[in-house]
Amino acid sequence: MSIAVSAVSTGERGEVDAFYRRELGRDVELEADQEVLTARDGGVVVAALRLCPEAGTLLLRTVVVAGGRRGQGIGRSLLLKASKAIGSRECWCFPWSYLERFYGAIGFVRVADASVPMALHHRWNQREGIPTYRSAMP
Ligand SMILES: CC(C)(COP(=O)(O)OP(=O)(O)OC[C@H]1O[C@@H](n2cnc3c(N)ncnc32)[C@H](O)[C@@H]1OP(=O)(O)O)[C@@H](O)C(=O)NCCC(=O)NCCS
Repeated sequence: MSIAVSAVSTGERGEVDAFYRRELGRDVELEADQEVLTARDGGVVVAALRLCPEAGTLLLRTVVVAGGRRGQGIGRSLLLKASKAIGSRECWCFPWSYLERFYGAIGFVRVADASVPMALHHRWNQREGIPTYRSAMP
């Protein structure tokens, strides 16, 4: 297995559209201002995520590894690349609660519910998701 993780160019976004549709059974909006990262195996997309500017901050969204490829370290590799791409910017993520450690590995820390900006509440499934935040680094 040779996994290549990289940022996706505009011309490659169709492949990511198809990946999300296949894995999630729905369309995911890939806007021009979003940074999209993928992991590929033999050129085939096996995982993807999006960094989405919103409400004056950044959101890490739609982290998905292909159904048959989970538990092989691909998600971790993709997150490490995302960590570099986020760099010193602040970033929010609202993951499933059981993934707190997964995102914690790149600096996302669970924060108080009350600290979530109102403008981001619609991104947060408060029944199953937790608010996590990676602060801007000087
Ligand atoms: C969550 C997901 C992205 C993880 O990717 P992955 O390639 O399977 O994860 P990795 O093999 O790189 O595992 C990295 C670490 O995360 C942990 N982890 C992965 N999936 C986990 C799960 N479902 N529950 C708890 N821990 C999990 C692993 O145990 C591992 O921890 P370790 O370093 O202590 O061994 C992947 O399972 C997935 O696409 N799930 C469906 C979509 C989803 O739920 N996305 C996240 C939305 S918040």
